[in-house]
Amino acid sequence: MIYLIKTLVCAAAAAAAAPNPFTSSAGYPSPWGNGGEGWDEAYAKAREFVAKLTLVEKVNLTTGTGWEADRCVGATGSVPRLGFRGFCLQDGPLGIRYTDHNSAFPAGINAAATWSRRLLRARGEAMGAEFHGKGIDVQLGPVAGPLGRVPQGGRNWEGFGPDPYLTGVSMAHTIQGIQSRGVLACAKHYILNEQEHYRNSISVRLDDRTMHELYLWPFADAVRAGVASVMCSYNKIEGVYACENNYTTNFLLKNELGFQGFVMSDWGAQKTTLGSALNGLDMAMPGDFMGGNRPPYNALWGGNLTEHVLRGQVPQWRVDDMVVRIMAAYFKVRRDSVGKYAERPGEVNFSSWTTKREGWMHESSNSTWGVVNGFVDVQGGGGEHAALIREIGAKSIVLLKNTGVLPLTKPASIAVVGRDAQDDPRGPNACKERACIEATVAMGWGSGTAEFPYLISPATAIKTRAAADGTTFFNTTSNWDLETAKAVARNASVAVVCVVAHAGENFVSVGGNAGDRNNLTLWDNGDALIRAVASVNPNTIVVLHTPGPVALAQHKSHPNVSAILWAGYPGQESGNALIDVLYGAVNPQARSPFTWAESPEQYGASLLFSAPDPRNPEQTFSEGVFIDYRHFQRAGIAPTYEFGFGLSYTTFEYRNLRVVVGNSTQGGAQVVMQGSTKPAPTYGTLDRRVGANLAPEGFSRITPYVYPWLSGPNVSVALLQNVSTTAATDGSAQPLLPAGGAPGGNPSLYDVLYTVRAEIENTGAVAGTEIPQLYVQLGGQENPWGVLRGFDDVTLAPGESKTVTFELTRRDVSNWNVSSQNWEIWTKEKVIFLGSSSTRIRLNATLPAPPGMRWSHG
Ligand SMILES: *[C@@H]1O[C@H](CO)[C@@H](O)[C@H](O)[C@H]1NC(C)=O
Ligand SMILES: *[C@@H]1O[C@H](CO)[C@@H](O)[C@H](O)[C@H]1NC(C)=O
Ligand SMILES: *[C@@H]1O[C@H](CO)[C@@H](O)[C@H](O)[C@H]1NC(C)=O
Ligand SMILES: *[C@@H]1O[C@H](CO)[C@@H](O)[C@H](O)[C@H]1NC(C)=O
Ligand SMILES: *[C@@H]1O[C@H](CO)[C@@H](O)[C@H](O)[C@H]1NC(C)=O
Ligand SMILES: *[C@@H]1O[C@H](CO)[C@@H](O)[C@H](O)[C@H]1NC(C)=O
Ligand SMILES: *[C@@H]1O[C@H](CO)[C@@H](O)[C@H](O)[C@H]1NC(C)=O
Ligand SMILES: *[C@@H]1O[C@H](CO)[C@@H](O)[C@H](O)[C@H]1NC(C)=O
Ligand SMILES: *[C@@H]1O[C@H](CO)[C@@H](O)[C@H](O)[C@H]1NC(C)=O
Ligand SMILES: *[C@@H]1O[C@H](CO)[C@@H](O)[C@H](O)[C@H]1NC(C)=O
Ligand SMILES: *[C@@H]1O[C@H](CO)[C@@H](O)[C@H](O)[C@H]1NC(C)=O
Repeated sequence: MIYLIKTLVCAAAAAAAAPNPFTSSAGYPSPWGNGGEGWDEAYAKAREFVAKLTLVEKVNLTTGTGWEADRCVGATGSVPRLGFRGFCLQDGPLGIRYTDHNSAFPAGINAAATWSRRLLRARGEAMGAEFHGKGIDVQLGPVAGPLGRVPQGGRNWEGFGPDPYLTGVSMAHTIQGIQSRGVLACAKHYILNEQEHYRNSISVRLDDRTMHELYLWPFADAVRAGVASVMCSYNKIEGVYACENNYTTNFLLKNELGFQGFVMSDWGAQKTTLGSALNGLDMAMPGDFMGGNRPPYNALWGGNLTEHVLRGQVPQWRVDDMVVRIMAAYFKVRRDSVGKYAERPGEVNFSSWTTKREGWMHESSNSTWGVVNGFVDVQGGGGEHAALIREIGAKSIVLLKNTGVLPLTKPASIAVVGRDAQDDPRGPNACKERACIEATVAMGWGSGTAEFPYLISPATAIKTRAAADGTTFFNTTSNWDLETAKAVARNASVAVVCVVAHAGENFVSVGGNAGDRNNLTLWDNGDALIRAVASVNPNTIVVLHTPGPVALAQHKSHPNVSAILWAGYPGQESGNALIDVLYGAVNPQARSPFTWAESPEQYGASLLFSAPDPRNPEQTFSEGVFIDYRHFQRAGIAPTYEFGFGLSYTTFEYRNLRVVVGNSTQGGAQVVMQGSTKPAPTYGTLDRRVGANLAPEGFSRITPYVYPWLSGPNVSVALLQNVSTTAATDGSAQPLLPAGGAPGGNPSLYDVLYTVRAEIENTGAVAGTEIPQLYVQLGGQENPWGVLRGFDDVTLAPGESKTVTFELTRRDVSNWNVSSQNWEIWTKEKVIFLGSSSTRIRLNATLPAPPGMRWSHG
């Protein structure tokens, strides 16, 4: 590999006439994994393992056995000859779906709202330990797609909010947490899966700069963090399905970002045998056509892929690369032997398809009855995970308004109002997939859910606390009986009203909301309920369980609404986390990970609810990089509450902003990758005889189930004459991309160019945590007013001050140049802003231009 040192003098945005990379053939061939930073040992082990495999054994590891064919939501075939069981893949991003004795963690959006790397990491570790404990190999999370282009996006809550930097940091820490427990993480859904309407057919068009600076950004962080797998999404990009897309998978993910793990399809997102294989898919999920049986293979891969390899349509190096990537990911997280979990990971110990002890080993075919569920308790000994969930729950509550009513100190009486405060008498899991609002809501709906082991409701937690304090407790449940709500609230010193909006995945609709929210108002008569309570009680406290923003202006300005708290989707400790903040045991540190406004239109990007041609829904992300706060600032729209906003029970002062160029070890010139890869390697010999690729004599098949063998002795596997080497099948050495070269992209993008320091002091009377946020103005019309490029959580005793340090990397101050296909520091003057939100700026400074460069103004 040759490094070319490039001078840093670059023209600004010479973008206009660039070729459209989405329609070039740059995506061939599919890059073969080659190890590198953090992967070398894993690759050595994987190559040794794969070299022992026959073609059908290899194919077995690339293909799911079919929907409900085994006990996890996804399972691959196994290698019985070597005692290697197939992979078990299980939802989801906030805990284990479809089992018992697991925890229900706060949703991704809550984890992001803490702005705490420590808590993001701890949440990942605890989730990883739970998946490990059930024998699961791959946790299907975390989520960076949807990013949150539009606030109504049904699955936004599964991820970390619309800012790519906050999402990227959250992805990296979550992934490292999960994988430290010997479980493979999966960064999903790759890419541009920004809405639920038409998600299986929508074609998204966007410009290359927006792709890099916004939607791809957090996936780059995931890859740099060593993520083991990536899930391609259901939608199309520029007319091509994500799981069949040589540009997004081969070119961007595997080549430019240097991803060394494997790409799996979302469930049913694979469309063709050959297209998916050559365009970079490595594992087909769930393997079949989502149920039923379509002979002879019941699959696009399985035996169908074996046939294609034998006929020369899929080169051996490509199928070898699939399996090496899968096994390297397995060894990378030390799944064969993990630190304190030194025992070989146990058998899968639960069944997604029954809550009972006994059931079918293979549900889709009702085959082999036996013990399927060990009811293994994975919640961490001594309530360890519950304590963490409560801490994250409390530290993810954003205090949006407080006229002084909070924190509470032994009020004489307290009224709890609203259905969303209540326990469900049928239990917390009464609604399948969590798709209802009949009691308190603590997670969204769909596949990103887990069963609650229990759910502490706000009413129960407040009642317990009231009893301890000698506070009289009143409680009313109906959202529609406003007279009763008023009567109850009128009597109380304070009234807590819990209200809801809900969102989820589009295989279920709730109240006519097909995953995405139809509007940004509260559900279930919530606004009228708040108004009724506030009309009689001057200490009205509003608690929001919503997946994102709702219209709040009327309550923000209402004199009797004394406090507003966003609690998001906090998980099983919901009520306990809430009282920690209400009563001041936790001084709120959360800051809003999205912008609050009054209507969807104000966000400047729109969700496609109804396509002119429903068979061919198309959408252009014409707003470019201007989503969420970037849009509000440019359009001059004052939000109700801005991105990054949240109150504390104390106050902070900012002082003494300093910028140091580089640091003692870094800050050199940008390196442009040059040179080329090695040719594609192959492992083991390919036995082309039909007989070597058939099921063994007497093998007893179950149906439906996906197997790797040829369908029968009469299959012709003669090398096809018309298969010549094309760009897609060419295994010769390939040139490196200038922006590539290592996981996460060119390593010199991560050089520290500036170190920024400032002092923060707690000037109030109680201890608290401030979240200083660093925004960088990259300059020029093409760039937003500022983009988040640093944050910290700083806990301070009253009167205490600390120095905070932010490191700005080359990537942090660069833009994507679509012509040179590389990151460049444009010559526009760059200003940094340090503040307590995206608009509450306390300090600013101009960054010195890098050596050899002069800033231009305007
Ligand atoms: C490679 O991907 C591009 C963009 O998606 C597409 O236009 C092109 O047809 C693909 N090439 C082939 C041979 O499928
Ligand atoms: C493929 O996996 C299935 C399911 O685990 C197993 O029954 C079969 O024997 C495997 N085939 C080979 C060739 O190892
Ligand atoms: C095998 O793959 C082809 C597409 O490449 C598909 O048309 C066919 O349905 C598949 N066969 C089976 C039985 O799944
Ligand atoms: C499997 O058994 C269940 C009852 O236990 C039955 O409802 C279902 O139809 C059966 N499915 C198959 C594929 O035989
Ligand atoms: C899983 O559960 C089964 C059935 O209860 C039990 O025999 C086995 O020991 C359990 N395995 C692990 C790893 O807990
Ligand atoms: C609140 O009131 C409802 C309806 O009367 C009741 O079922 C529930 O138990 C009460 N909640 C608490 C925490 O007392
Ligand atoms: C309000 O308080 C009065 C006097 O303490 C009591 O008689 C009445 O039942 C209370 N009403 C409600 C709805 O709790
Ligand atoms: C918004 O949607 C919710 C949920 O469907 C519904 O309850 C509410 O009435 C809607 N708001 C408006 C203003 O239509
Ligand atoms: C606020 O509450 C008081 C009762 O304490 C009530 O008289 C007043 O009308 C309320 N204000 C508004 C704007 O509803
Ligand atoms: C310089 O930056 C690198 C990369 O972030 C870091 O590892 C190193 O500790 C820094 N050195 C100093 C003196 O801050
Ligand atoms: C930077 O801060 C100074 C001093 O508070 C202020 O006068 C100036 O307007 C700020 N600059 C920008 C670009 O906000």
